[in-house]
Parts: sequence; structure tokens; C-alpha cells
Amino acid sequence: MNPMKDMFLFLSRQTLLQKMLSTSGPFKIISKRFICGETLEEGTKGICHLNDSGISVTLDHLGESVFLESESLVAVKEYIEMLDCINQKKLNATVSLKLTQMGLDIKEELCLANLRRIMQKAQLHKNKVTIDMESSDYTDITIKIYKRMLQEGFNNAGIVIQSYLRRTEDDIRNMLSFGPRVRLCKGAYKEPKAVAFPKKSDVDKNYIKMLEIMFEKPSLDKGTYPEIATHDEKIINWVLEHAKKNNIPNDKFEFQMLYGIRRDLQDKLNQQGYRMRVYVPYGTHWYPYFMRRLAERPANLVFIMKSMLYR
Ligand code: FDA
Repeated sequence: MNPMKDMFLFLSRQTLLQKMLSTSGPFKIISKRFICGETLEEGTKGICHLNDSGISVTLDHLGESVFLESESLVAVKEYIEMLDCINQKKLNATVSLKLTQMGLDIKEELCLANLRRIMQKAQLHKNKVTIDMESSDYTDITIKIYKRMLQEGFNNAGIVIQSYLRRTEDDIRNMLSFGPRVRLCKGAYKEPKAVAFPKKSDVDKNYIKMLEIMFEKPSLDKGTYPEIATHDEKIINWVLEHAKKNNIPNDKFEFQMLYGIRRDLQDKLNQQGYRMRVYVPYGTHWYPYFMRRLAERPANLVFIMKSMLYR
């Protein structure tokens, strides 16, 4: 149990606090540690900066838990503009989104219709879309919708899977037959023990186990593409050794990290010739995302406060 982590995850779900802090000047400044501005223009500036050094990006328009159809349509419009902008400016960037932002809590059919519009635009521009994974209440439906997109011919769809979930091995094994593009992360939500491993060491062990499965030759031959979304150097070093020992070429997988976290490691892997992609979030709905980043590393708050004092 980690009381600070639990506190930040609790705060991440408080809508009243979200309303108060999202518009507060000082908090907006603090959020910049992990959020690349509020507008598409600011988001794409962040991409250019990373692309210039050879790092690719996945762009996320922050938003989740939308309860009005009109809000979900605004999000779709933003993603369509984003895809057009990436194409126009020839940026090296894919996009990532959350299904609750597409209206999943309102109606599954609405979410599907919204997602389909984005997938179509992405396909037109030969771009890719990754569906983020939210709390475990949404795991089944997210996997179902991901598979539906593939069945509808959108082979530009990828999915996030979380190693903290006890079910994950079954989920990954069930996907291997069609060679999925899987962004493997540890998981960022508050989950009950019955659903997720409570011990970090078990989450990390399961992460490696999932990579071993995805890196098996038959999985790779089917087209499975592991996206290793972590800042954990132990896991990253394991991947480097495993790939070397098993002659897995660098283009059969990629590393991914979050904007503002371990920039040094991002550069190092990029310079060593590995594929490196950074998840760049932008938008005004940064509060829950920001709180989850604090939950992962509560010491961040102290660093941010200090850097504000010495600005
Ligand atoms: P771990 O927490 O063990 O951290 C390893 C090291 O990384 C730390 O020692 C520290 O140095 C650094 N670090 C980690 N978090 C930090 C932070 N917030 N600030 C500063 N340093 C930090 N989750 C989810 O549930 N659904 C999703 O869709 C996604 N999507 C996603 C995409 C991408 C590209 C990434 C990298 C991550 C996600 N996540 C996610 C978040 C993920 O589940 C996880 O919470 C974070 O990546 C932190 O875990 P690490 O794997 O880095 O390991």
C-alpha cells in the first residue's frame, strides 16, 4: 500500500477539485511539466522539437469520462484536425485516444461511430491510432472495440494493455493469432487486489512475462508489434539483452515514454538506434492525467514546487 499514491489517485477522480484547479493559473504552470500546452498548435510544437532529434510521437488530446454527446463530437473534431495537421506538416506522429472520451459512457454505438470516423481519417493519411486503456471496468469493452475495428478493416488500430491486471496474460494470448500492435504499460489506475497485482514486483514480473510471450518467434512472425511503454530501466535493459540474445531486429519493437519523463533515457535509446516514441498530451482537460503522473511518483510535486520557486 502506498498512501501518497492512493491519495493522488483519489484526487484524480474528484470532479469538483478538477473544476477548481484546471483554471487556476499556478496549477496550469505546474501541469506544463507533463502537458505540452492546451492547443493543437502547442501540441504540434512539442512534436517538432522531438521529431527534430529523431524521436517519434503519439499525440493525445486530453479528455476522458465524457457524458454529453456534444462533448464527444468536439473530441472527434479535434482528432480529425489533429490527423490533418500531422499529415499537412509531415510530422512523425500517430495518435492516442480514450474510449470514454469518444462517448463510451453514453452509448457504445456512439463511441463506435465516433471512433470509426477517426480511424477512417487516420487510414486516409496512412496513420495509426492507439486506444488507451482506462480502469478495469473498461477492459472488456475496450478489447472488444479494438477487435471490432480490426474486423472492420482498420489494421491501423493498436491497443494498450496493462501488466498489473491478473487477466492480462489471457488477453495477450487471445490476441496473438492476429498479430496485434500492443502498447504494454504497467497500469495507472486504482484497482482492487482481486483484479490487479498489489505488489509492484509482481507487476514488473508480469511485464517481462508478457514481453517474453510477445517476443516469441511465432508471435513476431504473425506481426505482433510490442510497444514497450515504460521508464523502468531494469525492464528496458532486459529488452535490450533479450533482443540481442534472440537476434530480434530493432524494427520489430519500439520503446515509448511519456512527455516530460526521463528525457535523458529517451535520447540515449534514440541515439543507440532504437525506435523511441514519446506520448505527448495536450489540452485543457489535463487534471486527471496530471494527478496520475503525481501518483506514480509523488516526489514530482516537490520537484515541481522547487522549480517554480527558482524560476
Ligand atoms: P515505474 O513506475 O516502475 O517507474 C520506473 C521509473 O520511471 C521511476 O523510477 C522513475 O524514474 C520514472 N517514472 C515513472 N513514472 C514517473 C513519473 N510520473 N514522473 C517522473 N518519473 C517517473 N497507463 C494506463 O493505465 N493506461 C494507458 O493507456 C497508459 N498509456 C501509457 C502510454 C505510454 C507511452 C506510457 C509510457 C505509459 C502509459 N501509461 C498508461 C502509464 C503507465 O501505466 C505507468 O503508470 C507509467 O508509465 C509509470 O510506470 P513505469 O512503467 O514507468 O514504471
